[in-house]
Amino acid sequence: MSAFKFTVLAIAASAATTCLATNITVSTTTSNATSLDPSLVSFSIEMDHWADWAGTLQKPNRYTQALLKNIAARTGQPPSFRVGGDTEDHSVYAPQYQIVNDTFPPATNITPWPEATNVSIGRDFYSLSANLPAGTKFTWGINLKSRNVSIAVSEAEALMKAFQSLHTVSLELIEIGNEPDLFPWTSSEDVYIDEWLNVTNAVAEAIHLQKGRKPTLQGAAFAGTKFNMVNLINSGLLTNGSGKYISTLSQHRYQGTFCYGGGGLIQDLMNKAHIRGNLSKYEPDIAATNKAGLDYIFGETNSYSCHGAPGLSNTAGAAVWGIDYSLQAAKLNITRCHFHNGLGYKYNFFQPISGVSDDGVNNTAPHIMPLYHVLVIVGEAIGHNGRSSIQELTIDDTYTSGYGIYEDNKLVRVILINSQLYLSSDAGARPQTTISLQGLSSNAALKAKRFSIPSADATKGLTWAGQSFETPSGIPNGHVVEETVHAGNFTMNATEVVLLSLH
Ligand SMILES: *[C@@H]1O[C@H](CO)[C@@H](O)[C@H](O)[C@H]1NC(C)=O
Ligand SMILES: *[C@@H]1O[C@H](CO)[C@@H](O)[C@H](O)[C@H]1NC(C)=O
Ligand SMILES: *[C@@H]1O[C@H](CO)[C@@H](O)[C@H](O)[C@H]1NC(C)=O
Ligand SMILES: *[C@@H]1O[C@H](CO)[C@@H](O)[C@H](O)[C@H]1NC(C)=O
Ligand SMILES: *[C@@H]1O[C@H](CO)[C@@H](O)[C@H](O)[C@H]1NC(C)=O
Ligand SMILES: *[C@@H]1O[C@H](CO)[C@@H](O)[C@H](O)[C@H]1NC(C)=O
Ligand SMILES: *[C@@H]1O[C@H](CO)[C@@H](O)[C@H](O)[C@H]1NC(C)=O
Ligand SMILES: *[C@@H]1O[C@H](CO)[C@@H](O)[C@H](O)[C@H]1NC(C)=O
Ligand SMILES: *[C@@H]1O[C@H](CO)[C@@H](O)[C@H](O)[C@H]1NC(C)=O
Ligand SMILES: *[C@@H]1O[C@H](CO)[C@@H](O)[C@H](O)[C@H]1NC(C)=O
Ligand SMILES: *[C@@H]1O[C@H](CO)[C@@H](O)[C@H](O)[C@H]1NC(C)=O
Ligand SMILES: *[C@@H]1O[C@H](CO)[C@@H](O)[C@H](O)[C@H]1NC(C)=O
Repeated sequence: MSAFKFTVLAIAASAATTCLATNITVSTTTSNATSLDPSLVSFSIEMDHWADWAGTLQKPNRYTQALLKNIAARTGQPPSFRVGGDTEDHSVYAPQYQIVNDTFPPATNITPWPEATNVSIGRDFYSLSANLPAGTKFTWGINLKSRNVSIAVSEAEALMKAFQSLHTVSLELIEIGNEPDLFPWTSSEDVYIDEWLNVTNAVAEAIHLQKGRKPTLQGAAFAGTKFNMVNLINSGLLTNGSGKYISTLSQHRYQGTFCYGGGGLIQDLMNKAHIRGNLSKYEPDIAATNKAGLDYIFGETNSYSCHGAPGLSNTAGAAVWGIDYSLQAAKLNITRCHFHNGLGYKYNFFQPISGVSDDGVNNTAPHIMPLYHVLVIVGEAIGHNGRSSIQELTIDDTYTSGYGIYEDNKLVRVILINSQLYLSSDAGARPQTTISLQGLSSNAALKAKRFSIPSADATKGLTWAGQSFETPSGIPNGHVVEETVHAGNFTMNATEVVLLSLH
């Protein structure tokens, strides 16, 4: 098989006559692309409002189901769910309740939807997992922070018992402890290992974990980089006691914080160099984790921590960020990115129930937010063959990034991301970039789907390949529009994403 080469020529055409050209050579075959997990873009759900996402046993949340089925139709399987977060360490199993008894602190301006301080997990709570589409894989969180073996064991036993009678969804992983590096007494990786083993050895025995069988364990779930995976592995976590059941190490990652208000600029969030600068520092941890035979994931991530920044996390620009960020993570072999969601959070994929305000609007209906398009578009880029892989295109341009997607080592799709800022307040014509795929016949007709965005600061009016997902049912509206573009010459708008199919 001859390795065809073709080149992407990006011409940043300003209103004047200057043309800046960048050529990128891509092999149409590869032997060195990184495998893509179909669930690369997945969910992390704060535990307190789990029943709002899932619905009840009598009344499953049909809106959630419809939105997740849209993704399963694209990647062949629904996104994975981690249910936990901060509230996992404030939870107890309390079978006197049917679903849950949450205790919430008062709302504030910065935190209109605070996390529960106490979550009493009722009898049906874990079983609501079956309301999600068939094939959904779960990671459930268990309380470590209370350092109370009986709390952790009773949660784990109830969890196992629930999943034993669920046949459409599966319990893939158990995470014991969220962000233990922030526990005030956890001074080192060694202390974490000691406290984790104290609780987890008892859990593993109670629920009869077996090596090579699911569920396995997810370790670390660190908030920061004060502790790292290299030290964790060197300190013997994986070889001591129940450490042998660990299959996955999880790191949490946010790009900034809204914990004290403030925020950031959309152009800084979706900036190509920032995305790469922020992710490359995890490479030693990823390598050490993979060398130990484990998966490395972002078990909780999103734009700005403490539920997102208004005017940033809930914008179309954040969706452009999320596409480049998750694909860049995949390229580095971060197997999955679990984007954190909670009721009313500004960085959600969607709000699952009515009556939730975000960005000052009290929406009377459940609704998607711009970030939902990351699930759809990255899902389509990955495709449903189950064995696709990714290689980044080297593009010598400040604003254009791109990736080749391979199946059986043959290039099948190219996704291009233009992160040049275009705001609703910008006067004058929207900047455009002319792209030329060279090496293919310049007349070669490619199918193109566009992520059309009114402006980077828009929160509504986004479409993907002509369809709107901003519908009451979650079922997209309109027909799929696939443009035919010529490989040698087509344009992209500032703040836009295009997916090209070669076949
Ligand atoms: C891009 O490649 C074409 C031919 O492959 C070449 O003519 C052109 O000079 C290149 N442009 C740049 C900026 O390197
Ligand atoms: C394969 O990919 C890795 C990671 O992207 C890179 O470091 C390495 O140089 C590549 N090897 C070859 C032979 O291209
Ligand atoms: C429940 O809340 C009380 C009072 O805030 C607190 O002392 C206790 O630790 C909480 N329990 C858990 C499991 O977090
Ligand atoms: C829920 O838990 C809180 C304590 O965290 C308690 O005060 C309250 O009575 C409980 N609610 C019910 C309905 O039991
Ligand atoms: C552990 O939790 C149980 C149930 O909440 C409680 O009865 C027990 O006192 C706790 N044990 C310790 C050592 O705190
Ligand atoms: C295994 O863990 C136990 C309990 O935390 C600790 O006492 C022991 O030193 C550890 N052993 C090794 C080989 O790390
Ligand atoms: C582990 O358990 C032992 C025995 O209960 C206790 O002395 C020790 O402090 C615990 N370690 C941590 C880090 O919680
Ligand atoms: C990380 O991203 C933030 C904004 O998202 C940016 O301000 C910062 O400079 C980036 N850091 C690096 C090392 O690129
Ligand atoms: C990526 O991680 C997986 C485990 O999740 C491992 O099997 C694979 O070898 C890693 N790939 C690379 C290129 O390091
Ligand atoms: C939003 O509106 C609904 C229905 O009118 C109401 O029940 C709910 O309390 C409102 N929520 C907020 C946060 O204002
Ligand atoms: C690209 O297409 C535009 C309009 O269709 C045309 O004006 C331009 O000359 C073409 N450029 C090249 C390099 O073919
Ligand atoms: C570019 O954006 C403009 C203005 O938002 C829009 O009218 C046009 O259809 C877009 N063009 C492409 C190729 O996406």
